[in-house]
Amino acid sequence: MAKILVTGGAGYIGSHTRYFLEQRGHSVMVVDNLSRGHRELVPDKILHVLDLHDKQRLAALLKQERIEAVIHFAAYIAVGESTQHPEMYFANNVGGSVSLFEAMIEAGVDKLVFSSTAAAYGTPKKVPITEDQDIAPINPYGESKVMVETILDWLDRYRQFRSISLRYFNACGAEPAAGLGELHDPETHLIPLILRAVQTGKPVTIFGDDYPTPDGTCIRDYIHVSDLSEAHINAVEHLLNGGASDIFNVGTGIGHTVKQVVDAVEKVTGKKVPSTIGPRREGDPPSLVADSRKLQTTLGWRPTRADMEVIVRDAWHFAEAHVLKQK
Ligand SMILES: NC(=O)c1ccc[n+]([C@@H]2O[C@H](COP(=O)([O-])OP(=O)(O)OC[C@H]3O[C@@H](n4cnc5c(N)ncnc54)[C@H](O)[C@@H]3O)[C@@H](O)[C@H]2O)c1
Repeated sequence: MAKILVTGGAGYIGSHTRYFLEQRGHSVMVVDNLSRGHRELVPDKILHVLDLHDKQRLAALLKQERIEAVIHFAAYIAVGESTQHPEMYFANNVGGSVSLFEAMIEAGVDKLVFSSTAAAYGTPKKVPITEDQDIAPINPYGESKVMVETILDWLDRYRQFRSISLRYFNACGAEPAAGLGELHDPETHLIPLILRAVQTGKPVTIFGDDYPTPDGTCIRDYIHVSDLSEAHINAVEHLLNGGASDIFNVGTGIGHTVKQVVDAVEKVTGKKVPSTIGPRREGDPPSLVADSRKLQTTLGWRPTRADMEVIVRDAWHFAEAHVLKQK
């Protein structure tokens, strides 16, 4: 079992992955500056409130804790915000990552799993999307992730630094056994926004219903956060066992339209979803679905929670508990 550092472990996907790593018997430390994360999602004794740019303290922590590998989630994640403040995204997502890599090199830690994104493909020419499709991000967020992938490629060649970049599609759901869930602020992701509409009665906006899809709404590949966490564990164990650097898509290969997600929410909650149709959002491709066969064959990973009703049930469980806690 290994000692693993999780950056961004007070966030949505990082907190879930921390939980699953511990379940698998690994020992975990978390670094997060709490700019977007939540202290209550991390056990106090493993949390180090630290910014990625603090290279000296990061290097000291890596040495002192004898960390063997890093899973790197810490970043800003909102596409819209990245178009308003591109410099902020490059400073944090690229600059912060470089600072982390320098600290790792200083501490002699040479294995990293990186949170990349389907946004690397921009508007794909072919769906399902394989890893060899053109890289053509259409917003600063996607570009910041591609830049880090490129840096990792050079570090592999000249620093024997091994990494796996996972390009996730739409992370969603929650792990009921862990009491964790999605708490972005502001929230931009579809399922929590639909659940909030059910809870508050305020309509959720569906952006466009005139796309060339069966019901006119956008198709996305929704990957349960617990399945996604397990992909990280397979990836980090692969590196720890001497595996080579690589890049993989993480999705289910199944596309759901926005209206199908709304239907699943109505079925699970037994409540009508208040919604309005808005205009298309700029840069929203009609369909984004992953071809994840490479991850399945190379790392033996399988999504086991791909059913939309399971995803919504788990997200609803957390949303209900969270509202109760806030009262
Ligand atoms: N949520 C998705 O659907 C999705 C899809 C593709 C890729 N990703 C990537 O996955 C990763 C995690 O996403 P998430 O949804 O859990 O986001 P999140 O905002 O919930 O978590 C990110 C965490 O990183 C921390 N952080 C940010 N900048 C930091 C810095 N400079 N120093 C230390 N901590 C810092 C934040 O406080 C937060 O806790 C991100 O890198 C994101 O780009 C997410």
